Amino acid sequence: MADPTSQSNYITIATRHLSLEWTLDFLTRTIRGTAVYELEVKGNEVAEVILDTAGLVIDSVHVDGSSVEFSFGTKHTVMGSALHIPILRPAIKGGCVKLAIKYETTTNCTALQWLDKEQTQGGKFPFLFSQCQPIYARSLVPIQDTPSVKFTYDARVTAVLPVLMSAILISPDSTGFPHDGRKIGHDKVTYVFRQSVPIPSYLLAIASGNLRYRPFPVPKGKDWTSGVWAEEELVDAAEWEFKEDTTKFLEAEEKIMVPYRFGVYDLLVLPPSFPYGGMENACVTFITPTLLTGDRALVNVVVHEITHSWFGNGVTHADACHFWLNEGWTTYIERLLQQILHTPAHRSFSFLIGSKRLYDDLKLYESRPAYQRLQIAFGRGENPDDAYSGVPYEKGANFLLHIERTLGGIDVFLPYIKNYVQTFMGKSITTQEWKDHLYAYYCEHGTRDSVEALDSIDWNAWLHGEGLTLPVPAEYDMTLARQSNVLADRWDKARTSTNLHELFNASDLQKLDANQIIVFLQRLQSYTALPKSHVDFLGSTYSFSTTPNAEIRLRFYQVALLDPQSDAAREYAVDAAAWVVGQETSKGIVKGRMKFCRPIFRALYAVDAKLALETYQRHKLAFHPIARNLIEKVRNNGACVAVSTIEHGRGWL
Ligand code: BES
Ligand code: ZN
Repeated sequence: MADPTSQSNYITIATRHLSLEWTLDFLTRTIRGTAVYELEVKGNEVAEVILDTAGLVIDSVHVDGSSVEFSFGTKHTVMGSALHIPILRPAIKGGCVKLAIKYETTTNCTALQWLDKEQTQGGKFPFLFSQCQPIYARSLVPIQDTPSVKFTYDARVTAVLPVLMSAILISPDSTGFPHDGRKIGHDKVTYVFRQSVPIPSYLLAIASGNLRYRPFPVPKGKDWTSGVWAEEELVDAAEWEFKEDTTKFLEAEEKIMVPYRFGVYDLLVLPPSFPYGGMENACVTFITPTLLTGDRALVNVVVHEITHSWFGNGVTHADACHFWLNEGWTTYIERLLQQILHTPAHRSFSFLIGSKRLYDDLKLYESRPAYQRLQIAFGRGENPDDAYSGVPYEKGANFLLHIERTLGGIDVFLPYIKNYVQTFMGKSITTQEWKDHLYAYYCEHGTRDSVEALDSIDWNAWLHGEGLTLPVPAEYDMTLARQSNVLADRWDKARTSTNLHELFNASDLQKLDANQIIVFLQRLQSYTALPKSHVDFLGSTYSFSTTPNAEIRLRFYQVALLDPQSDAAREYAVDAAAWVVGQETSKGIVKGRMKFCRPIFRALYAVDAKLALETYQRHKLAFHPIARNLIEKVRNNGACVAVSTIEHGRGWL
């Protein structure tokens, strides 16, 4: 089965190498340049190359040195426009075709967000960054936009601000930023990159801004380097936040899997409109600035992205239907490391936090049960972003945990994990290939019991089951949640009390870390909404209404807005609206991470639709195009409703 999200003919001819020559123009907000491709012919009598494009202007196309007439297929709203390129001499299997395309991006480029200088930390220079996963690389460059194709690339990018790509920076030297004698933001510099490990298109990435680098100390004997990039004003805080953990976790992962293959593992802190917590772009993970909490509480996001170096960037899902192989495995391993570097209770605790996300997301998809499945049977042209949720992460990780436990525990499972990674490193695979290998491994290396154990698993229920529960309810160690639950129960019992200041004070939180506070707030959401007086006291006594930790602030607003009809909801809707668009401080820093802005807009919409719409309309351009698309869909008891005041008549989610 071909990738349902791509119109390219990658099965008969596949990209092996890409050379980019780009100029970034911050004034017109376009990238101009050429892309040169080396393609391997895999079928017989291949007469054309079909590439995915979206909103690109193509100037000219050359095939093996000769100019050719190209054409576009009918534009598809999700998949874009297929670019048809004839091959003059029909190529034979095993042959190589060389293409050169001169083109430019347009302002309709979904992958890119161009930010004004006011939308950055420093406020002095503009910023550009990309987000290609899942299907936006095609708006950056004509490409076979499917994770089933992997290619190496090199790039020469000319710009007036420092540039990073998902590749190794060959020149100029990162420690020399900003380049001596050149005026940053004014003089052009050409940056040269090389990615010599084949990657799927969704890992193509670029960023440009007033960036600086801080290297992390690397353990002895390693053939990789690691460090952090951020705007000048943030780089010291970023260095502090991540310098302890990044290399420690990389090293721990190498011990259980195989050595890190990409040579460089850097982090790049993006402006606040970055729509994700982290994105595992090759050689440089992009992260949201909301991770900079000053207490290293959110490094698990970095651990998650590091883990993708093996699961996703190494062993890749064949297409969107098998996306859970990337995120489920990554989440499972991220939590296994918690157990190895901390305690089994820490691992359980992460699963517990995740179980709330799983339940909430399964509930959101009650009217789209096809998206409650682990393996999703996408139809041609369906948008994988519509199905993006905690399901592949949480159901996937629980599935792997269930298999681990069924087989007899982590000691029996670890050698298999290593073998899985070794077997499929560099390849793109389906769920069936994963399962076949699992069986083959335990047939060869397990006992008779292990195959019986595998046979006892309800594969159909896990992979294709729908509904709000896991096929086998998970049991987690609750040790670390106990205090959070006790405190939440005290609040619940005090709902009619008027002497709150005698019952609660700031020291209640003294022994709780940030994650335990999150569990406390999540548990409060499972009770009937608290009265406004209690929400007020909760917010002020524990500083939840002003905390800079966005994870905690989000949960506080979810508690406050729990009952859309309540006084508390009406009052805190105003605060939540101001927070999400960054109006509570003078900075105008939006909470562009979709994990924050989508639930806030959803809750706001339920409490005060007018406020939600007005707030969004006023600040719409501050959000990334991908976030805009998803915020503009609303689900009302499951039915997608169009909201007439939204441009283009789209709904909201
Ligand atoms: N690869 C994902 C982000 C992604 C997925 C972008 C699908 C576009 C389409 C990344 O690794 C991720 O999972 N990020 C999470 C981190 C969290 C689970 C620790 C996020 O951003 O919330
Ligand atoms: Zn991930």
